[in-house]
Amino acid sequence: MNDLQGSDQWRTRLGFMLAAMGSAVGLGNIWRFSYVAGENGGATFLLVYLFFVLLIGIPLLLAEFSIGKAGQLDAVGSFRKLAPKTKWYLTGLMGVIGGILILSFYSVVSGWSLFYLYKYITGAYWNEPDGGFGAAFGAWISNSYAPLFWQALFLGVTIFIVMRGIKGGIEKANNFLMPALALLMIIMAVYGLTLDNAMQGVKFLFTPDWGQLSNPQVYIMALGQAFFSLSIGICGMLTYSSYLKEKDRLPAATVGIGLMDTLFAVIAGLMIFPAVFSFGVDPASGPPLVFITLPTIFESMPLGNVVGIVFFILLTMAALSSALSLLELPVAFFNRTLGWSRKVATLVCGVFIFILGIASSLGFGIWSGVTPIGDNGILDSIDYITANIMLPLGGLLIALFVGWYLPKKRAARFSEIESQGLTSVWYFLVKFVIPVLMIVIFLFQLGIIDY
Ligand code: PHE
Ligand code: NA
Repeated sequence: MNDLQGSDQWRTRLGFMLAAMGSAVGLGNIWRFSYVAGENGGATFLLVYLFFVLLIGIPLLLAEFSIGKAGQLDAVGSFRKLAPKTKWYLTGLMGVIGGILILSFYSVVSGWSLFYLYKYITGAYWNEPDGGFGAAFGAWISNSYAPLFWQALFLGVTIFIVMRGIKGGIEKANNFLMPALALLMIIMAVYGLTLDNAMQGVKFLFTPDWGQLSNPQVYIMALGQAFFSLSIGICGMLTYSSYLKEKDRLPAATVGIGLMDTLFAVIAGLMIFPAVFSFGVDPASGPPLVFITLPTIFESMPLGNVVGIVFFILLTMAALSSALSLLELPVAFFNRTLGWSRKVATLVCGVFIFILGIASSLGFGIWSGVTPIGDNGILDSIDYITANIMLPLGGLLIALFVGWYLPKKRAARFSEIESQGLTSVWYFLVKFVIPVLMIVIFLFQLGIIDY
């Protein structure tokens, strides 16, 4: 196994940070954040979400990074190395499965984004289609074959980059994608705030309805969103940190990633909610929200066609940088623990994920009657199982591993926090606060899961 270690690493620490930010910032910040926040009370949701990011998300991200950096292997291998002859590696295995499941539906939505980009480039969506954007989107996603083509195209690009490895593929791609993304995002946010009704969106996002604080659903959804958005609990961040050089320190990167990701979500909200109110779209309209509201806004604003092109470039780039980390997760496992070549591992995982994703896509068409969880369709159900169950469970296990399995000295050393005081705060959060909070939320969830 030794010959595999150190063979491919991040060229620079900045490259790692950009890649990890790329993993975090994605469809989760724009597409998922806006409809989950819309369905769960807006500002109250945002408040609980921010609380979870600071108290649970960032400390857990550091815990995940420290396992990967100390283990120097993939999700399964790192646990095996740090905890030989135990079952802890199952945490990594759940991550590998979770990564495959998430990318299966993530690539479907990414395909929608790519298709919209195409529609904007050709000018087809510069004017509202007959029956409106809502009907057009509904008709498009209910097709059996066309969305699959765009999903496959998106996965093809992802596969192409991941095949080239860490330094030559993922790092290079993110070095371009992330700065471009940040720039586009800022332009869009400034533009969004100049729209009429912008204040209504700001109000929705920043005026909490305190009564909602007693609604367990808000906590469950905010926790799931925090995990999904920060890419934690699934060992993808663990996998990324395993490619760090010994000398590259962790803690500063962690806080930066947490804050960046949150900033992106808030900016996206500021961009989207004003429009939702301006055009009377229901903020609780679910996964199609951004694909319906945004084109409606773009059409009625000055330079809307340019904005549309820019926006869907942005959304597709954000999706791509996240998809890279989702694919790298199983690829690293098959490559480093099972010994497949990177090329074969990437191709096999990519094709398998595509096939799995067909179900999510057809769930909006011929399989729309299939509702595995409650009245959720296939995509929503896989999303729920991953974001609200597997990711938090993975996060809980990571907290227990670092807080209770590893000796305190070792955990503290792996975290690479320099100050004694901060180390104690971090350790206390990981050992006590996070597990307790999460177990309480799980108990709520089990009590109400059937509604
Ligand atoms: N964080 C990504 C997003 O917000 C999604 C993701 C989840 C990526 C888990 C990797 C792992 O879109
Ligand atoms: Na995110």
